[in-house]
Formats: sequence, structure tokens, C-alpha cells
Amino acid sequence: MNSKQVAELSGYYLFQNYGREPICFSHGEKEYLWDLEGKKYIDYVAGIAVNCLGHGNPELVKAISEQAARLIHVSNLYLVKEQADLAEAVASIVPAPLGKSLFCNSGAEANEGALKLAVKHTGRSRIVSCHNSFHGRTSVTLSVTGREVYQKGFEPLLSKNVDFVHFNSVEEIKSAVTKDTAAVIVEPVQGEGGLVPATDEYFRTIRDLCTDRGALMIVDEVQTGMGRTGKWFGFQNYGIVPDIISLAKALGGGVPIGAVISTPEIAKTFTPGSHGTTFGGNPLVCAAANTVIGIMKRDKLVERSAEVGGKWKLELRSVTSGHHEVADVRGSGLMLGIEMGDMAKEFQKYALKEGLLVNVCAGRVVRLVPPLIISRSSIERLNQALGDFLR
Ligand SMILES: Cc1ncc(COP(=O)(O)O)c(C=O)c1O
Repeated sequence: MNSKQVAELSGYYLFQNYGREPICFSHGEKEYLWDLEGKKYIDYVAGIAVNCLGHGNPELVKAISEQAARLIHVSNLYLVKEQADLAEAVASIVPAPLGKSLFCNSGAEANEGALKLAVKHTGRSRIVSCHNSFHGRTSVTLSVTGREVYQKGFEPLLSKNVDFVHFNSVEEIKSAVTKDTAAVIVEPVQGEGGLVPATDEYFRTIRDLCTDRGALMIVDEVQTGMGRTGKWFGFQNYGIVPDIISLAKALGGGVPIGAVISTPEIAKTFTPGSHGTTFGGNPLVCAAANTVIGIMKRDKLVERSAEVGGKWKLELRSVTSGHHEVADVRGSGLMLGIEMGDMAKEFQKYALKEGLLVNVCAGRVVRLVPPLIISRSSIERLNQALGDFLR
């Protein structure tokens, strides 16, 4: 079957809820992908910040295969060794007092769990969220997603208990958090919103306000988590510790897993029956995530992300300097954005022809979130293509 036939089959049988490129990949290795026609690509998207170890990592493949042969699923009616092991591994990478995990299947589900936990724990019902944010597509996470483009057509939203503030507005957040606020949910870097980092002052103000006013600070680490910004978690760039974090994407290196992580005291709020999911934390995905964390620690991929990404950002700034169509190059670690207005989509098209997969967020920012193992030559290739495109 070729890509054209896959497109026909997809058009016939699948919901048409994604705008897909007419490319179908057959296999991958490291940061490289090959399509059904045998064309090779360099992947700077990593499944939208998912494939942190790249494609076809032999250790991850082995762990998944061996676990699949042993035991794939049993449900949470029983003890799951791989889940307990993973929770211990997660506790080793989060700062105290965080350290308790609840596993689910996606980022939206992790945020759902985090929001429910905050409401039950505080006995309050209002949530503060930010304009331009993205927290998922389930009914509740859509309600706290601050972009009309995602909410349109689904009104009235199920949750009307959301107070929106402008991202990075210290003044607005000060008046938004009240005695009725259960939680503030915030991304360290608004990923889908155009790769916009939170300021130090904003994050620290939210932390202080939540502590003073008895609300919980939920940091959505779905996109920023697992080394993406050069720290294990994005919030670590701000010297604060939230009450709850949500995690997904890179945690499983490609298998679907999400997590709600909180302090033991907050975790106690969920008693048997409060929350749960059939698949959440099954042996297969937990074995995979455990292997991901092990490899990331051993190979120092978080430090690598900081180092490689820091240098790359400077190079991108130098390649784009003097080109007025490039408004900004920003980000940290291997989560970099090149703001270039309408040219962003044009560059995406140009890059694709060159066999380079990049993604555009918020319609104007080229997002670079490659595997954390990306090679020097692949970075240089992107720099060269960007330079050629702008010339
Ligand atoms: C910050 C953030 N939160 C939540 C989500 C939703 O995650 P999922 O698509 O796994 O439900 C995303 C997805 O892009 C995200 O970037």
C-alpha cells in the first residue's frame, strides 16, 4: 500500500477531524523517519514532543516487547508491580513534597484528574486559567482551555466555573484568585499557544497567591515535562514547587500514558472510588515509562536538552538576524520557537520538501521539539534550510 491509498482508505473510513499531511511513515530510527515510498525525513516534531528517545530505541522496544510477552493488562483491581516501580521512579525525579502518582492515558485525562483532585481537596469550585492556554479536548479541559478556536461549537461549555486571566498578567491574577478558587492551572510555556514562556514574576506570584489564599497551583507539564525545557519539569525553571502537576506525552516515549502527581497530603483526598480508569497505569505502559526514565537519567538527556538547545537557540538567532520577518526566537532546552508570522507555514512547506518535519503552532510560530537525542548534523541541517529559505 502507498501513501495515496492510505489517504483514500482514511478518507473513507475515518472521522475527518485532523488536517493531515498526505504522508504515511513506515518506520523510524533515532530522529529519522521513512515514508512508505522510502523517502527519509528528519523529525523535529517527535510526535508533538512525545518521542523523547527518538524512534525505535532498542532498549525501549525490548522493554515493551518483553513486558507484552509477560503481561499487558490486568486492571487496577489488583496490585501492579510495574505501576509501583514507575511511581517510585517518578518520585525520584520530582522535588519534595511532590511524590505521589496516579496514572491515566493522556494529557487531557491527567488535567481532568488534577482539576477533580483540586476541587475535592479544597471543597471549592472555581478554577483560574489563562487565555491562550491549552489543556486538552475533553469537556472539562476544554472549559479551561483559553482559546476560542478549540471551544467554538461546543458551547455552552460544561464548566462555567472558570475565570480567565491574561497569561503573564500579574495584576489580573492577583484579583482572580479568591476564597472560592480551588486551583490555578497554568503551563510553564504555552506550547500550543505559540511557545510563550511564563515570566519568573508570574509563576512566583501564582505560587504565593495560592499559598496565601488556600488554592492549589496545578502546573500542566504535559508538553514541557520530561526534560523538554532543559529541566525535568518546566516549573523548575522558576524555583517554585506546585501542588499538583499533570504529565503525559514524553513520559511513555510514545506509548499512551499520563500522570497526576501531587503531594501525599493532597493525594489522600482520593479514596477508593473517587477517581480511576480501566487502562491507567497498566503493566505495558508503565514498563515503557520506567525504561524511558531510566535511560533519560543514565544518558543525562535532561542536561543534554539544556546544553544542545541553548546552543541551538543562539545559532537560530544568528541565522535569522537581519531578517525582519522573524520577530523572535525563543524557548529553552529542546522546546524552541521561531516566530515568523505567515512565513511560518511557508517554511513548514519548504522544509517538508527538503525532508524536514517541523510543526507550526498558533499559526505563526515554527515549533522545534525534536527527540532529546537529536544529532549535531540534524541541527545543522535545519539551520542551513532556514538560512536558505530566508535568503
Ligand atoms: C500543555 C498541554 N496540556 C494538555 C494537552 C493535551 O494532551 P493530550 O493530547 O494527550 O490529551 C496538550 C497537548 O498538546 C498540551 O500541550
